[in-house]
Amino acid sequence: MESKAKPNGSATLEVNGNKIELPVFSGSTGPDVIDIRKLYAQTGMFTYDPGFTSTASCESQITYIDGDAGVLLHRGYPIDQLAEKSNFLEVCYLLLKGELPSVGDFDNFKTTITRHTMLHAQFDRFFEGYRRDAHPMAVMVGTVGALSAFYHDSLDINDPVQRMITQHRLIAKMPTIAARAYKYWIGQPFVSPRNDLDYASNFLRMCFAVPAEDYVVNPVLAKAMDKIFILHADHEQNASTSTVRLAGSSDANPFACIAAGIVSLWGPAHGGANEACLKMLEEIGTKENIPAFIEKVKDKNSGVKLMGFGHRVYKNYDPRAKVMQKACHEVFKAVGVQDDPLLEIAVELEKIALSDPYFIERKLYPNIDFYSGITLRAMGFPVEMFTVLFALARTVGWISQWTEMNEDSAQKIGRPRQLYTGATTRDYTPADKR
Ligand code: ACO
Repeated sequence: MESKAKPNGSATLEVNGNKIELPVFSGSTGPDVIDIRKLYAQTGMFTYDPGFTSTASCESQITYIDGDAGVLLHRGYPIDQLAEKSNFLEVCYLLLKGELPSVGDFDNFKTTITRHTMLHAQFDRFFEGYRRDAHPMAVMVGTVGALSAFYHDSLDINDPVQRMITQHRLIAKMPTIAARAYKYWIGQPFVSPRNDLDYASNFLRMCFAVPAEDYVVNPVLAKAMDKIFILHADHEQNASTSTVRLAGSSDANPFACIAAGIVSLWGPAHGGANEACLKMLEEIGTKENIPAFIEKVKDKNSGVKLMGFGHRVYKNYDPRAKVMQKACHEVFKAVGVQDDPLLEIAVELEKIALSDPYFIERKLYPNIDFYSGITLRAMGFPVEMFTVLFALARTVGWISQWTEMNEDSAQKIGRPRQLYTGATTRDYTPADKR
C-alpha cells in the first residue's frame, strides 16, 4: 500500500522542560494524527492508552467510520447504499481490491469463489475430533486454523498470487465450514455446497437442508442473509481486526491469523453481543416489564446494561442498525410471525430508551446487534450460531486488512510497551526461607 498520509505541521510537547516537535499527518478525512514514533527516542517516555481509545495503530484505505455523525464507508461507499444496491460478493471485491468490479470482473470473481467452496475430503474428518455437542464457535476456531495444515500452496505471504488464492479460499470455504460446525453440533449429516445457488442461498441450504428433505430457499431470507453479511463485512480497526493485524505482524500465516480474529470476536463485548441482546429480550418477557428493566439499567449498582445499545465509536445511531431494523421487519413478514413478542419488546424498548435522558446524555443509540439477534432467530438460527455468522461475514474484512498490512512498507511487528508497576529487582528466596 502506498501511503497517502499528508504532512500537516507539527504538535509541540513539553517534557521536563524540553520542548519537542512531533509531526502531524492528515488522512483523506477524519481526525489528524500526531506521529509519536520517535517519542521514546527523544524523551525516554511511552504514551499510555489502554484500550487504544486515542491511538491509530495503522494507516488504512479500506473503511472509514465517523462515530459522531453515524457514518460508515467502505472504500468511500456508504454502508446503506451498499446494503440496498450491492451484494455481498461485490462488497468482498470492493473491500479486497478498492474499486467496484466491472461486469466481467465480477463474473470472474463470482465464478472463482463459487468453485472454491468445497473442502478437502480429509478436512471433514477433522470435525469428528470434536465432542459431538461442541459449540460451533469452538469448532470454527480450530477448523479455520487447521486450513493452514491443508492448503500449504498458499502460505507464502510474500507472494501476491498466493495471498490472492488465500483470500478466495477463505471467502469461499467459510460458509461451508460454518454450516458444517452447525450440522455437527445438531447431529445432522453435512450438506455439500451447490454451485447453482448464490452465496447466501447456498449457505442457508447447507445449514437447513437434510437428506430426507431439500431446503427451498426463500428469496426474502436469502436477501436478508446477504444484507447481514454486508453489514458485518468490515469495521476498521475493531478488536478482532486488530487481533488479525497483530497476529499477522509477526508474518504468521493468514489462516492462523483469521483463527485469531475469530477468538477475539467470540467475546460478548464484541461479536457475542447479539446473543446477549436476544437473551435480554427473552428475560424482559413482556412490554409491561420494560420500565422496570430500564430503571435497572440506569442503576449503576445493578451491573445490568441495555445490550445492543452503545458503541465505542458510534455516538449516534449505528448506520448498520437502521438497515438491520428494516431487514428484521422484512424477515418477520416473510416467515409470517409479525406479532412475535420479542419484536414488540425490541421496538418498544428502543422507543423508550431513545427518549430517556440517561441514554440521550450518554449518546447511547441502538447498535447493529439490537436487531440482528431477533432477525437471525426468525430465520431459524439458534443463538449459538450468531457469532459464527458474524465471523463468516467479517472474514473478508479481516483478510483485506491483513493483505493491506502485508503490502504496507511501514509495517512492523506489533509490540506495545507498558507502564510497569510490579515488583522491582529482588533476590530469589529458597523455599524453606519464605
Ligand atoms: N447500557 C447502559 N449504560 C451504558 C451502556 C449500555 N448498553 N453502554 C454504555 N453505558 C454507559 C456507561 O455505564 C457509561 O456511563 P457513565 O458515564 O455514567 O459511567 C457511559 O454510558 C459511557 O459508556 P462506556 O462504557 O465508557 O462506553 P464504551 O465505549 O467503553 O463501551 C460498549 C462501549 C462496550 C459497546 C458498551 O456500550 C456496552 O457494553 N454496550 C452493550 C454491549 C453491546 O451491545 N455491544 C455491541 C457492540 S457493537 C459490536 O461489537 C458489533
